[in-house]
Amino acid sequence: MKRLILAFALLAACRNERPVESTTSTAQPQAQQTAAARDPHSYSRPDEARVEHIGLDLTVDFAKKQLSGVANLRIRKQPDATALVLDTNGLTIAKVTLQPGGAPAQYKLAPADPIFGSALEIAIKPETEGVAIEYASSPGARALQWLEPAMTAGKKHPFLLSQSQAILARSWVPCQDTPGVRFTYEATVRVPKDLLAVMSAENPTSRNEEGIYQFRMPQPVPSYLLAIAVGDLEFRPFDTRSGVYAEPSMLEAAAREFSDTPKMIQTAESLYGPYRWGRYDLLVLPPSFPYGGMENPRLTFLTPTVIAGDKSLVSLIAHELAHSWSGNLVTNATWNDFWLNEGFTTYFEHRITEKQFGREYSEMLWLLGVTEVKEELAALPPADQSLYVELKGRDPDEAPTTVYEKGALFLRLLEETAGRERWDQFLRAYFEKHAFQPMTTPAFEAYLKESLPDVVQKVNIDAWIHGPGLPANAPQPKSEAFARVEAQAKAFAQDAPAEQIQADGWSSHERVHFIQSLPKLPPGRMAELDERFRFRESGNSEVLSAWLEKSIDAGYRDVRPAIERFLTTQGRRKFLKPIYEKLMKTPDDAAFAKQIYAKARASYHPVSQATIDTIVGASQ
Ligand code: BES
Ligand code: ZN
Repeated sequence: MKRLILAFALLAACRNERPVESTTSTAQPQAQQTAAARDPHSYSRPDEARVEHIGLDLTVDFAKKQLSGVANLRIRKQPDATALVLDTNGLTIAKVTLQPGGAPAQYKLAPADPIFGSALEIAIKPETEGVAIEYASSPGARALQWLEPAMTAGKKHPFLLSQSQAILARSWVPCQDTPGVRFTYEATVRVPKDLLAVMSAENPTSRNEEGIYQFRMPQPVPSYLLAIAVGDLEFRPFDTRSGVYAEPSMLEAAAREFSDTPKMIQTAESLYGPYRWGRYDLLVLPPSFPYGGMENPRLTFLTPTVIAGDKSLVSLIAHELAHSWSGNLVTNATWNDFWLNEGFTTYFEHRITEKQFGREYSEMLWLLGVTEVKEELAALPPADQSLYVELKGRDPDEAPTTVYEKGALFLRLLEETAGRERWDQFLRAYFEKHAFQPMTTPAFEAYLKESLPDVVQKVNIDAWIHGPGLPANAPQPKSEAFARVEAQAKAFAQDAPAEQIQADGWSSHERVHFIQSLPKLPPGRMAELDERFRFRESGNSEVLSAWLEKSIDAGYRDVRPAIERFLTTQGRRKFLKPIYEKLMKTPDDAAFAKQIYAKARASYHPVSQATIDTIVGASQ
C-alpha cells in the first residue's frame, strides 16, 4: 500500500505538462494524449519511452485458464523520460522491477475501462533500460479462448488459442498495444507435456519431453500480431518453406485443401516482392476461432470452415498471405487507418487469385465483394462509410468492414487509371520503402500524390478516402458466369420451376451468387430450391451461410435445425453476426435465437461473445 501511495505521488509530480488523467472507469486513452497523430486506442506514450523487445517466460495453466510469468521489456527512451506507459486489460501485476539491477519499480495500474483496459504507468530512471513485469492473465482474458476437449476435433485434449487484433494483446501481455510500435520478441512457453505450443514466431514442428518451447521473432512486429496456440497439434510440410499445423484428425484434409500454398507464395512474390518473414505456415484451429483467418506472421491462424473439400475457399489463404506485405510489413498506424491493411490486402488477394486461377474466376470473387460492400454501406451512417474512419472512443473490433472491398475497389481504380505495370511498380516500391513501418492515411495520400500525380488528378481520391458510399467512378467487375446465374435467379423468381434452373457445373461462388440474387420468396418456393439443391446441407460454409440468411428473410422455417447446427458448431463472427441479427428481427425468431445463444455462448471466443451480446443481449 505504501508503495502505491508513493507511486501516485511520484506520478502526479511528473505529470505536470500533460492533461490530468481521468480516474473514472470510462477513461478513454486519448484523454491522456497530446500529440495529434497518437493512437486513440492505446494509453501508451511511445514518444517518451518505447518498447523495442519483449522477452516472455510464460506458463500455460488450463485448470486456472491462466497465463502467468514474466514479461521483460527492453525500452528506448527520451533522456528525460520519467514513465513507461503500457496497456493492460485484466492483468494481475505481481511485481515490477527496473532493469538493469532489478530494483523494485514504482508503478500505478489505472482503473479499468471495459474496452481499453488499464494503463500501467511505471516510473523509470535515467539509467533504466527496461522493466521486468511479473503478471498473470485473467480467466476471462479477451484475447484468449480456453477450449474444453469437447470443442476440439480430437475431443481428448484442451486447446488454447489467441486473437490479439485489434487491441486484445493487452489482455495477455503487458505492452504498448498500438500498431504504431514494433518490437522483436522471444518466448519460453511451458505447457502440459502432451501438447504443442506455437506462436507467431520461429516454431517447433514436434512435441518435446519437457513441454517447454522456445520462440524467437527476429523481425519487429506490432502487438496485434502476437499470437499463441496450444493443443494436440501436428505438423506437415508442403515444401521447405511452408506447411500446416492441425489436430491429427484434421491434418490430412488440411494438407490437401491448402496444398497450393507454396505456389501462392511464389505468385505473391512475383507481384509485390520477396516474402520477408522466413517461413509461411498455416495453423488450422478448432471451429470456435472467431475469424476466417488471422495473418499472424510466419503462422496464419485459420478457421476450419475454409476446408470445403474442393479448395473453393482458398482465396482466404491468399488474403492472409497478402497481409505479409500489406499490414505486417507496412502497417496501419492506428485502427482509423485500418483500410491501409484490409483494403490493400483484399486488392492483393484478388490479384493473387487472378494470377493463380485466371481472370474469370477472380472477377467472380470481386463481384461477391461488391454485393457485400453495397449491402454493408446501406446499413451504415455516412461518417462510417469512408475508408478513413474515426474510431476514437469506440471498440476497433467493431469497426465497419466496408473498408475491405471499398478499399480494394479504390486500388483497382488507381490500377486502371495508372495502367497495371506502373501501378504494380508503385506498389512494389511502396512495400519496399515503408517496410516495417507504420503508415497513416495522410502519409499514403502524400506518397501517392508524389509518385503518381497524374493519376491523382484524374481520380477523386478524397471522395474515396473521406466520403460516403461507392463513388460514381467505382470500377465494375464483370462476369459472364454471374450474369448467367442472375438470369436463372430471375427466371425462378418469375415462377419457373426449380428443375428448369440450369446449374450444371456451378461453382460454390455461383451458388452463393444465385442465392444472393434471389428476391424475397414465399417459404414454399424456398423449399422447392432446397429440395433441388440441398443448400441447407451444404458443406461449403459460404453457401450455407448465404442460404440460411436468405431463408430467415423469407420466413422459411424448415432450415431451423440447420441454423441451430451452424450456430452451435462454429464460432466465426462473420457467420454468426448476420444470422443472429436477422433472427432478432421478428419475435418468434428472436425467441429461437435467444434459446440457441443461451446454449452456444460459452463455446464462442470472447470476440464473438462481445459482438453477439450486443445483438441478442448478454443476460445468458
Ligand atoms: N486481420 C483480419 C482479421 C481481423 C480484422 C481481426 C480486424 C481483428 C480485427 C483478417 O485478415 C481478415 O480479414 N479475415 C477475414 C477473412 C478475409 C478473407 C476477408 C475474416 O476473418 O473473415
Ligand atoms: Zn485481412
